[in-house]
Amino acid sequence: MRRKIIAGNWKMNKTIPEAVTLAKEVVAATKGAQAITVICPTYVCLAPVNEAIKGSHVILGAQDVHWEEKGAFTGKVSCDMLKSAGVTYVIIGHSEQRSYFNETNETVNKKVKAVLKAGLLPIICVGETLAEREGGRTEAVVKDHVEGAYKGLSKDDALKTVIAYEPVWAIGTGKVATKEQAQEVHAFIRKKVLSALYDADTASKIQIQYGGSMKADNAAALLKQEDIDGGLIGGAALKADDFKGIVLA
Ligand code: 13P
Repeated sequence: MRRKIIAGNWKMNKTIPEAVTLAKEVVAATKGAQAITVICPTYVCLAPVNEAIKGSHVILGAQDVHWEEKGAFTGKVSCDMLKSAGVTYVIIGHSEQRSYFNETNETVNKKVKAVLKAGLLPIICVGETLAEREGGRTEAVVKDHVEGAYKGLSKDDALKTVIAYEPVWAIGTGKVATKEQAQEVHAFIRKKVLSALYDADTASKIQIQYGGSMKADNAAALLKQEDIDGGLIGGAALKADDFKGIVLA
């Protein structure tokens, strides 16, 4: 009953003309897909990509946002600005944001609240580093990320969120988590963390994506797992054919 959701996180790739071309290719390649299909280009490409996908099944997402509504925040972009560019989903708390740009559970929480208040839908990223996994701290880290992100969120708001479990050691490394490793953490997030924060019924309705070296040839096995409801795709989202393989899986 949870619909699969595949989102392409294009990160800092593609100029405006390149992004428009890729967006059109994704529309053509994924036509008729059962999964919700989302593409997340950089800020400058949002409006032109929105034009390119207009009237299609492909949905526009952004890679980050600032929590304030407006003002003296040089370099930042607000929820209303994203909405005016045609955005529906916003990725929040990506590990690259956490590790390079001082994203914390507190800023993630502020962004999630701002996004929901604006009527946008957050994709909340959580996940452990290799050192944390090897130190046996995966569950503690993931629990801390989820609890931090959902602090003060009502059940109704929680139902509008998507979680992306992205083990940091699998991002851009080609080292995908095994289906068992991924399923174990997804089940923990749903059955332990979200169920405790809300209730089992609410937890059963929240989509949890896997992210980290998901490709056309490993997507089907991951997506068959009981608690894996989609993917957040980096490298393989940059070529329409590769992305198509995952969306159709
Ligand atoms: P890769 O698919 O390139 O490993 O990136 C995953 C990711 O970070 C998506 O947000």
